[in-house]
Amino acid sequence: MLEQLDSIEQAALASLTTISDSAALDQWRVAQLGRNAPLAMLLSDIGKASKEERPVLGKRGNEVKRALEEAYEQKAEALRRAELEQAMTQGAVDVTLPGRKLAPGRLHPSTQTFRQLYAVWAEMGFQVYRSREVESDEFNFELLNFPKHHPARDMQDTFFTTTPDVILRTHTSPGQIRAMRELGGNGTLPIRVILPGMCYRYEQISARSDVQFYQMEGLAVGRHVTMANLKGTLSDFARRMFGQNVRTRFRSDHFPFTEPSAEMDVECFLCGGLGCRVCKHQGWLEILGCGMVHPTVLRNGGYDPSVFSGFAFGMGPQRITMLMHKIEDIRYFFANDLRFLEQF
Ligand code: DAH
Repeated sequence: MLEQLDSIEQAALASLTTISDSAALDQWRVAQLGRNAPLAMLLSDIGKASKEERPVLGKRGNEVKRALEEAYEQKAEALRRAELEQAMTQGAVDVTLPGRKLAPGRLHPSTQTFRQLYAVWAEMGFQVYRSREVESDEFNFELLNFPKHHPARDMQDTFFTTTPDVILRTHTSPGQIRAMRELGGNGTLPIRVILPGMCYRYEQISARSDVQFYQMEGLAVGRHVTMANLKGTLSDFARRMFGQNVRTRFRSDHFPFTEPSAEMDVECFLCGGLGCRVCKHQGWLEILGCGMVHPTVLRNGGYDPSVFSGFAFGMGPQRITMLMHKIEDIRYFFANDLRFLEQF
C-alpha cells in the first residue's frame, strides 16, 4: 500500500504539471482530491491493513494528501496570475478606464428648501434661532395669547406626554418667546430671526397632513416696525424665493399671537397666475401666515409694546417644496423611497 501511495502521488503531481487552465485544474481537483479519487479510496482501505501497518499508512496517506492540496493551491495561484497577466497584456483590463461611480447621496428636498430659505433670509439680516421641539403648554399656548380653553387651541391637536404640561410643539411660534427672551437684552435690543424645525400634531395622516412636519417661523422686533415693513419684507422674500416678477397679496386672517393677522398668497409660480391644477385654478398659492406681534406676546418676550413692535410669520417648507415640484403627497417626505429622493 505504501508503494501505491507513492505512485498515486507521483502520478497526480505529474498530471498537474501538464495543466494550463483553470477548468482543467478543477477537473484535476475532483479526480485527485475528490471523494472517488484513488487517494480517497486507498485511505478508506487503511482499516483493512494490519495493526502495525495502519499508523504508518495513515501518516504517509496524510502526507500525500497535504502534498497534493499544497500543489493544487500553488497551481491555482500560478494560473490566476498567468490569466491576469494575459488579460492585461491583451488589453482586456483597461487600467485607464474611470472607476465605478459611487452613489454619493444627495440632500433631501426639504433640506434643499430650508437652505434656500436660510440664504434668502440671511441676505435680509435674519439669523437662524433653534428652539426646542419638546415644549410646555405655557410656551406653546399661554404666552402666545392662547388662554386656557381658548377655541384656537383646537386648531392644533396636540400630542401630550405623560408629564403634565409637557407637550410636543404644535408650531414653531413658541420659539418667538424664547428668542425674544434670549436675544432681546431684556427688551432693549432689536431682533431678526428665523426659527426652522419640526412640529407635531395629532392628526389623521393623509396626502395633505402628517403628524410631524416642518415649519419655519420668522420674527422681527424693533422700534417703529410697521405693517408696511411686514408687507415689504414678505413680498421681497417671495420675489427672492419664487422669482423677481412674482406678485403677492395679503388676506386678513386670525391668529391669537398677532394683531392684525394676515395670510400671504403668491401668484402661482407654475402657471404664472393663469390657473392650473396646483393652484386649483385660482392663480394664487397660499404660502404663509403672518401679522403684527400681539402686544401681550411682546410683553411676554420682555418688551414694552408702547416702545417696541414687531412682525412675525410662519410657513410650511414642505408645502412650499410640494408646490415647487408638484409633489402630491406629503407622506413621501418621510417614506425614504429612493425612487422619490433620487429625483431631487
Ligand atoms: N403658528 C401658525 C400655525 O402653526 C403659523 C403662524 C401664523 C406663525 C402667523 C406666525 C404668524 O408667526 O404670525 O398655523
